[in-house]
Amino acid sequence: MSNRKILVTSALPYANGSIHLGHLVEYIQTDIWVRFQKMQGNQCHYVCADDTHGTPIMLRAQKEGITPEQLVDRVWHEHKADFDAFHVAFDNYYSTNTPETRYFADDIYLKLQQQGLISVRPVEQFYDPVKEMFLPDRFIKGECPKCHAKDQYGDNCEVCGATYAPVELINPYSAVSGAEPVRKSSDHYFFSLSDARCLDFLKSWITPPHVQNEAANKLNEWLESGLSDWDISRDAPYFGFEIPNAPGKFYYVWLDAPIGYMGSFKKLCDDRGLDFNEYWKPDSTTELYHFIGKDILYFHALFWPAELQHAGYRTPTSVYAHGFLTVNGEKMSKSRGTFITAKSYTDHIPNTEYLRYYYAAKLNASMEDLDLSLDDFVAKVNSDLIGKYINIASRCAGFLSKNFNGKLGQTDLANTLEFQNAYSDGEIARCYEAREYSRALREIMRLADVANQYIAERKPWELAKTGGRDDELQVICSTALTLFRDLTLYLKPVLPELASRVEAFLNIAPLAWHSEWQALPAGHSINAYQHLMTRLDPKLIAQMVADNQESLTPETPAPAQTTPVPQAVIAPLSETISLEDFSKVDLRVARIVNAEAVEGAQKLLKLTLDIGEAQPRTVFAGIKSAYDPEKLRGRLTVMVANLAPRKMKFGLSEGMVLAASGDTPGLYILSPDDGAQPGMRIK
Ligand code: 2FM
Ligand code: ZN
Repeated sequence: MSNRKILVTSALPYANGSIHLGHLVEYIQTDIWVRFQKMQGNQCHYVCADDTHGTPIMLRAQKEGITPEQLVDRVWHEHKADFDAFHVAFDNYYSTNTPETRYFADDIYLKLQQQGLISVRPVEQFYDPVKEMFLPDRFIKGECPKCHAKDQYGDNCEVCGATYAPVELINPYSAVSGAEPVRKSSDHYFFSLSDARCLDFLKSWITPPHVQNEAANKLNEWLESGLSDWDISRDAPYFGFEIPNAPGKFYYVWLDAPIGYMGSFKKLCDDRGLDFNEYWKPDSTTELYHFIGKDILYFHALFWPAELQHAGYRTPTSVYAHGFLTVNGEKMSKSRGTFITAKSYTDHIPNTEYLRYYYAAKLNASMEDLDLSLDDFVAKVNSDLIGKYINIASRCAGFLSKNFNGKLGQTDLANTLEFQNAYSDGEIARCYEAREYSRALREIMRLADVANQYIAERKPWELAKTGGRDDELQVICSTALTLFRDLTLYLKPVLPELASRVEAFLNIAPLAWHSEWQALPAGHSINAYQHLMTRLDPKLIAQMVADNQESLTPETPAPAQTTPVPQAVIAPLSETISLEDFSKVDLRVARIVNAEAVEGAQKLLKLTLDIGEAQPRTVFAGIKSAYDPEKLRGRLTVMVANLAPRKMKFGLSEGMVLAASGDTPGLYILSPDDGAQPGMRIK
């Protein structure tokens, strides 16, 4: 029996947002791997924590009128409940705002300083004179220097896509106080990544198996284009740890986040009497794996190993990056109702193992994105889990309880050969080890087909009906349950809750990989079969998506989709036009850069629309009754771009936005689908 010592982490979620289905790809992927390792008899520890520091968390707490600690505490409980619901079984779920993480942050920082790898130099940044704080890029807004769209963030323009430095913004203002920021210099602390020691180390380190092949390529590109020193300090006020001997300077949140892995593990070691140093000393023979999303590869495969190496700790065995989640082939979207939190999922669909199964059926070791196709989700769960797997037990267990008092008979060993071979061959285990879960599940479902065929050919229900061949009936059902037991073992990393109910029903010890293959013994008593899993009802999915769909017109909610519109209320159609007539109308996707009420006008809003021209257009639209101008800002809509300008009482209107209305109250402007860009023509 192997007895590897393994420490596994998933990325730490920020303590100011909810866990959603995108996050869960990673936690489910990691949890399956950890459960598999434990079932192999390895000593595997899985730790994580909330990522608690930084300006957004500080400001959010201020806005809510609570302390950052109170916010962090509340969110920790929310996150923990979500992980529990999805059976993500951390050995310790901690927080970065803890003495353990502070200890290792200081330890690493001071050792890097001793190595001469910390430097200090002034950095000029925007400063909010009212709030008396330096502003991170996301908290500075202003006019885009390229397209002149208003209210753009300090690092990139959402209208024209330009990226720039915050100091390039025209008329910048603080998104925190609204004040005009001033430029101010202060000393910052840098980790000298550009030092030859770091570069040489990283050059040899960023190779498989430390990182996947595709990641190694990307990392090498970054390395070759040159690494800059990394700014690891932020000025007060900041929610974080103050840097030793640097009053008013705090570690940047990304400095202490991965150190949170160590902090969480240290707490686990203290609780369970494990030896922390055995896992973290430079020549450790234990294994360390970080599961992360591909977007944070830079931090985990460059900064983090370089820090560890030069602070006298071991470096990761491997960093495993995965892709992003798409839903129905597209980015999760609030307007489509596919931005779904863990809580919203469980509010609608109590069984979380459906999702674990579906993700596993799609996961592999690559950095490809994973698509949750909602129709396919229902189809796969119902056909594989219910139709192929659960069916084996539900078709056979009843006869054993009724006819044999729950006692098993002999097993038809000749008909278990395929399963015995699969077990000794170990392919399914290799797939789990290599994070090729989709391949593992395909093989498991192939075996389920074999088991179902065995049952279908022998028709135990007919034997039970005709009677007189009891021994045969008992053998068939007992054999089927041994096969079902094997399938449960293989599915247990993915479906731990279901597996434990199967263990109770079969009256067997917790299933694990490290024992010899054996049939369930004759004479063994099973418990009465209880329903193990119900079909996934597509109506639950439809309801969940509908409930997550953000209304675009909050004041006048659209009628429920199921209400049919009676023909008679539709206004009569206009006379037919030719294609040429239609093509005279130049319709464009427009970004509503600004929307404001017009003094003295009851129905009008003044819209500033960007359609990719040098200057945005002004359009007066009669939509004030239906829309709060605040909520329109930043939205995309559709405008007639070649309508002759009209002089109105309040100014020149340079086009028209389109809106739907009927006999009943309510006015609805149009929205293009995600992906449309300002200026695109609508044909
Ligand atoms: O990207 C994020 O959500 C970060 N909170 C991940 C941190 S992972 C680790 F470094 F702590
Ligand atoms: Zn722009």
